[in-house]
Amino acid sequence: MHAILTLIVNGDRRDVGIPEHYTLLEALRYGLGLTGSKQGCDKGDCGACTVLLDGEPVLSCLTPAWEAEGRAVTTVEGLAEPGRLNPLQEAFQVTGGAQCGFCTPGILMSAWALLQRNPAPTREEIRAALAGNLCRCTGYTKILDAVELAAEMLAAPTRARRGGEGGQAAAPAGAVRSPDPAVAAAAPGSGSGRDTAEGLAGEAAAPAVAGGEP
Ligand code: FES
Ligand code: FES
Repeated sequence: MHAILTLIVNGDRRDVGIPEHYTLLEALRYGLGLTGSKQGCDKGDCGACTVLLDGEPVLSCLTPAWEAEGRAVTTVEGLAEPGRLNPLQEAFQVTGGAQCGFCTPGILMSAWALLQRNPAPTREEIRAALAGNLCRCTGYTKILDAVELAAEMLAAPTRARRGGEGGQAAAPAGAVRSPDPAVAAAAPGSGSGRDTAEGLAGEAAAPAVAGGEP
């Protein structure tokens, strides 16, 4: 049996015909061709499939598609604006927080949800927000550095509007800002090691994350 599902994906209404048993991840990838959200473990362990549902991070591999009917879904494809990366994406580029990149879409979405509700998270708060996202490559340090840097980049225009601490000129509401060179130059974490011996979520318990199709 197939059904027509209506989603508000990255701000656009999308109708898609899918088998009724599909998960949200399958609806996005195989119904709508949005392959940014990754199908890693497909059982709730790796976080690679994380998307935002009404602004909250969910594991789309465990979310029945029908639960998202009529709701707002944000995928990694919705972060950047045409021709301009989201500051969080730019921060990952600056710190080297993405290596093979398979985990990156899910981590970006978890981190973006955190920054929306907490613009100045502590490192421990970042670690907690990303605890469900596994990474096989980076050792996590550069990921944590990237989220800290993104918070600084996003705050810089606000500081500039308030009279300045050297931040760049204020951007229009909703605009994606370019990184403040001073902030980028001060990017934390030039090292390549693991942030802690435990990593973010316990390496020993981490399942293999399948390598990926695009
Ligand atoms: S693919 Fe959803 S948690 Fe791994
Ligand atoms: S960069 Fe995280 S799994 Fe490769």
